[in-house]
Amino acid sequence: MDPNKRPESMQRITSKALADAFIAEQVSAIQKQVGNRKVLLALSGGVDSSVVAALLIKAIGKQLICVHVNHGLMRKGESEAVVEIFGKTLDANLVYVDATDRFLDLLAGVSDPEKKRKIIGREFIEVFADEARRLEGVEFLAQGTIYPDILESVKQAEGKKAVKSHHNVGGLPEDLKFELVEPIKLLYKDEVRVVGEALGLPHAMVYRQPFPGPGLGVRCLGAITRDRLAALREADAILRDEFDTSGLAEKVWQFFVVVPDMKSVGVKDDSRYEGWPAIIRAVNTKDAMTASIEEIPYAILAKITSRITAEVEGINRVLYDLTPKPTGTIEWE
Ligand code: XMP
Repeated sequence: MDPNKRPESMQRITSKALADAFIAEQVSAIQKQVGNRKVLLALSGGVDSSVVAALLIKAIGKQLICVHVNHGLMRKGESEAVVEIFGKTLDANLVYVDATDRFLDLLAGVSDPEKKRKIIGREFIEVFADEARRLEGVEFLAQGTIYPDILESVKQAEGKKAVKSHHNVGGLPEDLKFELVEPIKLLYKDEVRVVGEALGLPHAMVYRQPFPGPGLGVRCLGAITRDRLAALREADAILRDEFDTSGLAEKVWQFFVVVPDMKSVGVKDDSRYEGWPAIIRAVNTKDAMTASIEEIPYAILAKITSRITAEVEGINRVLYDLTPKPTGTIEWE
């Protein structure tokens, strides 16, 4: 039997009872595979790596070493939430690496989207590998691979062309050889969420909208600067706050802010005020291959606009992206 093929007989996990059964089964499989040895995990705080972390903590406790790499391109509060939930609440063995300067220094002056993606992907592996080499006696690498990832790599192996070089954790350098632990590799995303809730992870983490591996790096268009990145992070936090309080967050698949590398003339306190525009994007999709635009009530758009322009240093306009995919991709880079 192919271990990377979901058996037809496998029941879809749709309830807490089914999730509990899956968890019990995986906990004992992990214990059997790992014994008393150590496992390493790159914990981004996304749904998949968080669920894998929670499963492994349940199975092997402190034998799991979670490494959270903050590449400086996270959304507001995200790295802090990882430390709070895994470091404090779940008392995990967590290594927190603030690699902001490493990433932003390498990205300085780089405006080509694919070059940016490559730099972020490569550096992520470098930072993670540096941490892995520092740790002793680790034999396993846990990964939050899910079934769509496996289906996607089958498609790529068949020669289908990708529009962008999406990155998650790629291959590690040759000197680092680990046996893989992939407890959710046969699950679909909706099942991962049901399992996450059954494991007691916070709702906001389990239902977090997808966030690209290169993070805000592909939303701070062109060459990233720290001031524009900071403005993007604040504007994005306001958008999320307003979507949460208005209930839109439950209805829209993905929503975020993009800040291009251009300024326009505006006015503030009776003076000329040159600033960047914040572009809002809110899309619905089933599989991210095509996407439609969510109609956001005007009153909410107006409130978001007045908050962002009043509260965020450097932003003087708010625009709303009306482009479906195709012709736009969901992200701008
Ligand atoms: P695009 O922009 O290609 O995005 O229409 C489709 C979906 O994929 C997300 N995305 C990524 N996810 N690593 C990821 O894990 C990446 O490098 C990456 N780039 C884009 C994007 O947010 C959207 O949901």
